[in-house]
Amino acid sequence: MSFDDMDVGTIWMDGEFVDWEDAQVHVLTHGLHYGTGVFEGVRCYDTDNGPAIFRWEEHLDRLYQSAKPYGMEIPFDRDELTEATIELIDREDLPSCYIRPIAFYGYDMLGLDPGDAPVKVSIAAWPWGTYLGEDALEEGVDVAVSSWRKYASSQMPTNAKTTGTYVNSVLASLEADSNDYTEAILLNKDGQVAEGPGENLFLVRDGEIYTPGLAESNLDGITRQTVIELAEEQGYTVHDDATISRGELYTADELFFSGTAAEVTPIRSVDDVEVGPGTKGPVTDEMQRTFFDIVESGERDEWFTYV
Ligand SMILES: Cc1ncc(COP(=O)(O)O)c(C=O)c1O
Repeated sequence: MSFDDMDVGTIWMDGEFVDWEDAQVHVLTHGLHYGTGVFEGVRCYDTDNGPAIFRWEEHLDRLYQSAKPYGMEIPFDRDELTEATIELIDREDLPSCYIRPIAFYGYDMLGLDPGDAPVKVSIAAWPWGTYLGEDALEEGVDVAVSSWRKYASSQMPTNAKTTGTYVNSVLASLEADSNDYTEAILLNKDGQVAEGPGENLFLVRDGEIYTPGLAESNLDGITRQTVIELAEEQGYTVHDDATISRGELYTADELFFSGTAAEVTPIRSVDDVEVGPGTKGPVTDEMQRTFFDIVESGERDEWFTYV
């Protein structure tokens, strides 16, 4: 859905609430030229106890950690960003929404070393439904292994959520789309499975759950951590440090994506090969239901920040 079709009026920018149209930056912004920004994608759910931000503290942790390799000091502390976000959601009266905090080097000069460029921070929030299409959560998605590889952590930090690095994800998404697949899977530089362009990946085989370890070049997803924890509570053996070969994708009993945007989305085929019977599998179904039960009820207090 285009922003033009949305009824949201305010963005928090550098300490102030500004009208949506006025949330502008200079064309010589460092982050625009070199991708020197760090960001988060967070969801606020309309729980039984009212609107609540899911795992906000963990998203804040990752935001500040992402800034570190780039020498970026975010000029607002956790409480200020939390207060701003809660007020923004409250002002816009959004029962559920997607939240996008971003910090980036601003306007000063355009040497590669950001030097004294100011660090600018903004937070926007808007309604955002299912990420991979209306039927994705029930029917599953058709994906293709991308010809683009996920960059290695020896090239850029793979555990930082940095704006510039997302050109890798954009290329994989464009390729998947132009070949009529809903989403891509990226292999890492060694040819093993890394993740989706904006999702982590889980594989189910013989009743056990596998997900690539963090050294496989994937982001340390907060939904990934959530799924691992919930699956272990449900009694599953979870191999969270797995190396998964491309071939194992085709022979898996089940595959699913996890991510803030994608939530828990079944994968029904890879490169036109059906995964299992080509429908949502029982373990995926259980993990999806467990996840949605929590975000809809808000029952696990420590994972929610109430608006
Ligand atoms: C490349 C990539 N991998 C994985 C994820 C999933 O992470 P999370 O569950 O924290 O949203 C995301 C989304 O943020 C992502 O962009």
